[in-house]
Parts: sequence; structure tokens; C-alpha cells
Amino acid sequence: MNRPSVLVTQAIPANGIDVLSAACDVDYNDAQRLDPAALHARVRGKDGVLTLLTDRVDDAFLDAAGPQLKIVANVAVGYDNVDVAACRKRGVIVTNTPGVLDDATADFAFTLLLAAARRVAEADRYVRAGNFKAWQMMGFHGGDLADMTLGIAGLGRIGQAVARRGRGFGMHVIYTDARRASAEVEAALDARFVTKEELLAQSDYLSLHVPLLDATRHYIGAAEFSAMKKSAYLINTSRGPVVDEAALAAALAAKEIAGAGLDVFEREPEVNQELYALDNVTLAPHIASATVRTRFNMARIAAENAVAVLGGGQPLTPVG
Ligand code: GLV
Repeated sequence: MNRPSVLVTQAIPANGIDVLSAACDVDYNDAQRLDPAALHARVRGKDGVLTLLTDRVDDAFLDAAGPQLKIVANVAVGYDNVDVAACRKRGVIVTNTPGVLDDATADFAFTLLLAAARRVAEADRYVRAGNFKAWQMMGFHGGDLADMTLGIAGLGRIGQAVARRGRGFGMHVIYTDARRASAEVEAALDARFVTKEELLAQSDYLSLHVPLLDATRHYIGAAEFSAMKKSAYLINTSRGPVVDEAALAAALAAKEIAGAGLDVFEREPEVNQELYALDNVTLAPHIASATVRTRFNMARIAAENAVAVLGGGQPLTPVG
């Protein structure tokens, strides 16, 4: 019997390739990300594909792949790079990697929150530049966490993990979401449901955990920055286009908010150049899930989804 063929579009941890290789013929692009033309050429005739969040899966991709394609296993929890409706129309199953990256992502949201509040990147630049000549009582004042209000937009698995960390730091947790969480979840997190307006007005730290949808594109923009406290910090580990990046740069430059921590950007890997000049923003290259264990588990789940579907079984973690 012919083994199914699977394309892996970019480098992933080796365990994912091992899982695939046991049951499939694997075409592994472990070099640079393929541009759309190269990606389309390479996916032609494949039965399955493991995609990364920088691969666009749209009608052109699906046309190029051909009618035998059965599964797009996205190695990410977010799947805004995949046109799920187009896949469904063709009977192509889409899967993601939920659950395994909640703690790593929440840890990194808190890393950015603390780094922004305590000016860590700015302090590092200061020391490296040889500017640490004397200890100063009046230098590098930042924001406190204890007794401050942590606002969470999107109380899904990752938002809840961030809330737990906030409680550990003695913060008051408020959240908004399209759907209110259960009474049990609210009680366990001691999290209070508020409107978006209340979230903006009350948060000392606002952390974004919504998926990128039409409804959440530019969820935070100029109007939202003017509704936030001047002392507030914005943390984004969700998706770049959730924030209007030009409006954020303007708000940070005008000190309309105190600071920001960003792991994601509106036009990744491009970064709004105005952010580079600002000391009150901490920047990271989309690494919130980048721990050894988390990336291993993401590769495993994506590969297991592909093997299950191509073996005639059910996907473990379908989306849509
Ligand atoms: C990372 O951004 C992911 O969605 O897994």
C-alpha cells in the first residue's frame, strides 16, 4: 500500500518528523521559509501538510495542492493564516495545537509585563552603553504589580493562565470576552467580568489574548489608547493586527500610556520603525511559545493529527 505523502513546510522539532516518518513519506523543508510560489509548487500532490503560522493556506494554496489533500495540520494554536472555510468547502481537515502552549505563552506575557513595568530592556541598553556610573535613587522608576489591576481581553486557556499568574503577583483581575466565563472559572481566578470600556478604563496592565478575527482586527487603536490610564501598560502576545501599531507608536511617543510589551506585530516580521526609537516599549520576535518542551509538544500534536487523518481516523484537535 502506498504511504501517504506529507509536506512539512518549515523546520520543526525532530520528534514531529519521527512521528510522521513512521507512517508517511515526508517531504521536509528544513531550510528557509518557502515563498508562496515555492510553497505551492512543493505542496502539489501531497496528502497532508504541516504548516507554520507564516504559511498562508488559501484557495491558491489548496488549488496548487490538488484534490487529494486531506489535512492541514497547523503547528500553532492560532490559525488565522488558514482559510478554514475554504478548507472545509474542499473537505480538507484543519487542526491546531491547543493546550500545550498555554503556560509558555502566559509566562511570556508576564515576562513582557514585568520587563515593560520594570524597564528591563531599557536598563540593559543603559548598562551595555557604559552609562551605569553611579547608583541613583531617582533612576529607572517603573510600575508596581501588587494591588494593581490586570485586565485580560479574552479569557480562554491562555488568558486564564495569565490570570493565575496575576493572582500570584497580588493583582486584581478583570476581563472581557465575547462570552462570559462560567461562574466556576470566575471564582477560581477571582476574575471579574467587565465591558471593554471598563477594561480600558480600569486596567493598569492590559494583556491581549483574543484570536485574530474580523471582529478583533484593530481591537486596540487610537480611541482605545485615549480611554486607557496614562499609567497603563499594554501587553500583546496574541496577534499583531489586534493592535493598530501606528496608533500604538503614537500613543507611546505621546505618553498616552506608560509602556508596552509586544511579541507580535501587525505586518510581521516588519516592525513599525517608530517603535525602535521608543524606550517605553519592549520588543520580542514572536517567541511566546518558544520553550523546548512546548515546541516539542506542538510538533508532536501536529504530526499525530496528520498521521491520524491520513490513516483514516479522526483528527485529535480539529478547528472550525
Ligand atoms: C503562536 O503564535 C501560536 O499561535 O501558536
